[in-house]
Amino acid sequence: MTYTLAPMKTGRPFGVLEIPDSHFPLNLDDKIPAIRELYRRAKTTAWNPATDIFWERLDLSKYTEEELFAARQYWSRLAWGEYGAISESPALLLRYTKERREPDLSMFWTIRTQEEVRHADACRRMADALGGYMVEPVTKDLEDSVATHGVRGMSFDADTPLEALFGSLICCAEVIAFDVFRARIKTTTDPVAKQILQLIFRDEVRHCDFGWKYMEYRVPNMTSDDLAVVRNKVIWMMEEVELKGYHSSWLAPSPNVTEMESDRVVYEAGLGATVEEVEKPILVKSVQEMRERMRSWGIEIPPFEHAKMGTF
Ligand SMILES: [Fe+2]
Ligand SMILES: [Fe+2]
Repeated sequence: MTYTLAPMKTGRPFGVLEIPDSHFPLNLDDKIPAIRELYRRAKTTAWNPATDIFWERLDLSKYTEEELFAARQYWSRLAWGEYGAISESPALLLRYTKERREPDLSMFWTIRTQEEVRHADACRRMADALGGYMVEPVTKDLEDSVATHGVRGMSFDADTPLEALFGSLICCAEVIAFDVFRARIKTTTDPVAKQILQLIFRDEVRHCDFGWKYMEYRVPNMTSDDLAVVRNKVIWMMEEVELKGYHSSWLAPSPNVTEMESDRVVYEAGLGATVEEVEKPILVKSVQEMRERMRSWGIEIPPFEHAKMGTF
């Protein structure tokens, strides 16, 4: 990857925001047909959280006060997570255009952002339907675990190739979240919770696909230096984000017991959560599959260690 170099002959690139704007020639032909196809599909599968969910099927009388409170908390947290995806989105969009990437990326990403909006909206509505959306974590110290994972900062760092963001943010983090999501659908028995999860899942399939497809397109033309940065960012994402409990609180070095217990209440009520024993094998399998796919890019992802997971 070549960047505009800073003028002081330091060999350092400008930050992404300093890359001069340049719009022409603007070729809107399909450059990456696989991604253009995801864009087309995304446009035909739009859904509306207000009208496409069978809200009337939500029967609160089946649940205890404790279950409803835990579920409100849980769905509020899902909404915060989805909102995080919205807030990181423009940074990447700006990067695609600043670096004059293939327009297929920007076209797909714009719809992807709308989809994250839909997810946040649906989760917020579910929390409301369960008794009330919560605007912030009940426990103050949980705020860190729902904060962004630094992607926005990296998006503007020209030293981090875009492919390293794709590798770590999409092919690693989003794919793990997706695999856990699939399990969540299986263990959820409430019909409305299940329907929302299924609708979100349908969109997330494309989000993950998008990352893999772009990497497959780019990898043959990447330098070994850039591939090494991709590898480092994936390892960072695993060790500093995933295994520190970003998606699953039970993985945190000092897990919040209240949150874990609350997740279990939601899980046992069939209202949407998963728990440690369900997620563990999924995480192992997900990382194995990621490792295999990245090996075909010429990237060797090392084993990871975690007190609760062992070496995997
Ligand atoms: Fe989402
Ligand atoms: Fe997503």
